[in-house]
Amino acid sequence: MALYSMKEILADAQKRGYGVGYFNAVNLEMVRAYIEAAEELDSPIIIGTAEALLPIAPFDWIVPAMLEAARRAKVPVAVHLDHTYHFDLLMQALRAGFGSVMYDGSRETHAHNIETSAEIVRIAHAMGVGVECELGSVGGLSDEAGHEDKMVYTDPAEAASFLESTGADFLAVSIGTVHGVYKAEPRLDIPRLQKIRATVDVPLVLHGGSGLSDADFQNTIAGGIAKVNVYTDVILAAKRALAEHPDAVYTDGVCLAREAMKQATLKKLRIFGSAGKA
Ligand code: 13P
Repeated sequence: MALYSMKEILADAQKRGYGVGYFNAVNLEMVRAYIEAAEELDSPIIIGTAEALLPIAPFDWIVPAMLEAARRAKVPVAVHLDHTYHFDLLMQALRAGFGSVMYDGSRETHAHNIETSAEIVRIAHAMGVGVECELGSVGGLSDEAGHEDKMVYTDPAEAASFLESTGADFLAVSIGTVHGVYKAEPRLDIPRLQKIRATVDVPLVLHGGSGLSDADFQNTIAGGIAKVNVYTDVILAAKRALAEHPDAVYTDGVCLAREAMKQATLKKLRIFGSAGKA
């Protein structure tokens, strides 16, 4: 089992019609929660970190831990770098050993997104690393100045030419989800997803997986999503567990939080249909 590439894991998901969860980690406890959940359900899983999380755990600390945990796992685990915006950081990520990376050009103009995505893909492919790119904008994340990204739907008419021009291996689509806690009930545009799916072959990625209903997950996976990104629901589960035990000492708190994150992960993996697919 052990360390797989995201490409291998998502190829199987696409072939057999299930979704694979992607979960961000900033420490060993999160990594352990995710992998133990995946092992308990005999499910493949993708773990990683993102540029915005580096102040909590720099690559040099978290990546060797994730790679080693993946190698020891009893199920297929891929180690991926989520939302990254800067060229130098992406090059550092390639050296650090990620099996795949996401260049997020959704804050740039369409032309700039294509140009930079293509440049990153060319270099990453030369190093055997797959690249996820975003067309449209999922929204909800904030830039360095604190401005929140607006949601911009992916235009199905642009998907095929975007992939042709960039060579991206995975496509993050914007169909109504937003990162973080939803301010209003999410309304997903499944026909838009189906149109995108009909024009391209690469695995499609759904960001902003926290706060969606079971039906949302089932409909998006049936509509062609292969990878589902989740973060907020996991850290909220840890927050609730700690709030229920305000007197817990640090070491007990670590265990309570890890167990809560594992339970949150188990719930998602079951909904995504990846249980038993390892
Ligand atoms: P949530 O935090 O909304 O689950 O989004 C996670 C995500 O899409 C990471 O890329």
